[in-house]
Amino acid sequence: MKTTILEDKRLSSEAPFGTSLAAEAENEVTAELKETTSLSDRLASRIELWTARVCIVGLGCVGLPLAETFGGGGYPVVGFDIDPEKVKKLRMGESYIGHIASERVAELVRTGRFEATSDPACFADVDAIIICVPTPLTETREPDLSYIIKTGQGIARHLRRGQLVVLESTTYPGTTHDLLRPLLENSGLQVGKDFFLAFSPEREDPGNPSYSTRTIPKVVSGIDRISGKLAVSLYEPVVTGVIPVSSAEVAEACKILENTYRAVNIALVNELKVVFDRMGIDIWEVIAAARSKPFGFQAFYPGPGLGGHCIPIDPFYLTWVARKFGVHTRFIELAGEINTSMPLYVVNRVAEVLNDQSQALRGSRICLLGVAYKKNVDDPRESPAFEILELLEQRGAHLAYNDPHIPALPAMRHHRIRLESEPLTEDFLAAQDCVLIVTDHSAYNYDWIGRHARLIVDTRNAMSGVTGTRARIVKA
Ligand SMILES: NC(=O)c1ccc[n+]([C@@H]2O[C@H](COP(=O)([O-])OP(=O)(O)OC[C@H]3O[C@@H](n4cnc5c(N)ncnc54)[C@H](O)[C@@H]3O)[C@@H](O)[C@H]2O)c1
Repeated sequence: MKTTILEDKRLSSEAPFGTSLAAEAENEVTAELKETTSLSDRLASRIELWTARVCIVGLGCVGLPLAETFGGGGYPVVGFDIDPEKVKKLRMGESYIGHIASERVAELVRTGRFEATSDPACFADVDAIIICVPTPLTETREPDLSYIIKTGQGIARHLRRGQLVVLESTTYPGTTHDLLRPLLENSGLQVGKDFFLAFSPEREDPGNPSYSTRTIPKVVSGIDRISGKLAVSLYEPVVTGVIPVSSAEVAEACKILENTYRAVNIALVNELKVVFDRMGIDIWEVIAAARSKPFGFQAFYPGPGLGGHCIPIDPFYLTWVARKFGVHTRFIELAGEINTSMPLYVVNRVAEVLNDQSQALRGSRICLLGVAYKKNVDDPRESPAFEILELLEQRGAHLAYNDPHIPALPAMRHHRIRLESEPLTEDFLAAQDCVLIVTDHSAYNYDWIGRHARLIVDTRNAMSGVTGTRARIVKA
């Protein structure tokens, strides 16, 4: 049954309604409700008329595609980022994200539907603020909420009545209510009365040509019913589907479930890879056969270890908060243990196959193909390639790498090896003692690589189907 905004306010208000209330108090509450209603009605009508100005905070892998989705959908969008280089590029109509074309950014800027800024004063001039800032782990693998905290503090300084704030960053259940809400209320404004607050997890899949931000359904929930309704109405016109849920905590937990599901299943196939390899069984063939089952099985694939901003990190947000409730997340811990052991497994396999040829790892020339955390992306964050490079270096190997998407290894928080991508030539491949496929980019010509390399250790099954190679091929 549909309810009006005023009825919603009554339902979500903590004040008891009924005959016991003095008439004066009742009048006061009614006046307050009317005021809130007029604020939410005003925002609702700006959303309906496409005049609501939307600010995206954090213009990275998530925020920039989201800005493009809102701007392309028809809302005027302001993008806010603390990185002046990104803001400068966007203002010149340049994109720094592979699947967002510069022409698209330029068109949005030219038509006045998108502007980028580093000035936090922009928060005061918009109707909705969507937060897409990083949520990494600290050195001690605890949630690093500093980005959300700084953003919440920054918004609070400019927050005004009638605005909607939505958190999209992945985080543990309770963050929107327990962390962001008080930060915003430090402004003196009250959530549900003066401004509105919601959570909607981001579901970007970089490098996946089948889906874009616009075509991925969105789970949305408000901290109260009005906030939820406003957030749903904001997203509904620009994305394929909106799934409202009953609380921000459910929406936060939904994202953690999605990523934990992947982490655990990838760990399972990584463990099976090791077991089957000992038994002389090819895990890739096993998975291909299992996929023929039309129900009850979803294929996940083994690899050299987890990478990216999400799967190696997000489940540990839940682990951390679960400890506060006195519960342990054993599946998550075990999956983490198996997945993080994969780079060492791969390096040990390289050592074994070299040993089979009476060669030592020390002094061998090893070239990694692909250092991005996954196929066809230019993102090296948390890539297992870095751990593999360091383990190989510790064992005395001479290292090189090639990645068409990553011309030089960037400075990373936990890794210090700095190399530049080597051009792939016949002579270069032939000079390597081992070519180690870490990321199976589509740009590689695997037939050609197989014709010129001597030994290939393949962690992605990229060489399957390649015949007539000179190289010895070993899966790992
Ligand atoms: N990348 C993905 O595929 C992906 C997928 C699902 C969820 N997520 C989640 O989305 C969130 C953002 O991730 P991302 O990959 O876009 O990160 P990113 O590092 O690509 O981008 C974050 C951006 O935020 C900016 N920033 C940092 N602090 C800021 C501040 N105080 N104010 C304004 N801007 C600030 C940075 O300069 C950067 O441009 C994270 O919570 C992540 O877990 C990411």
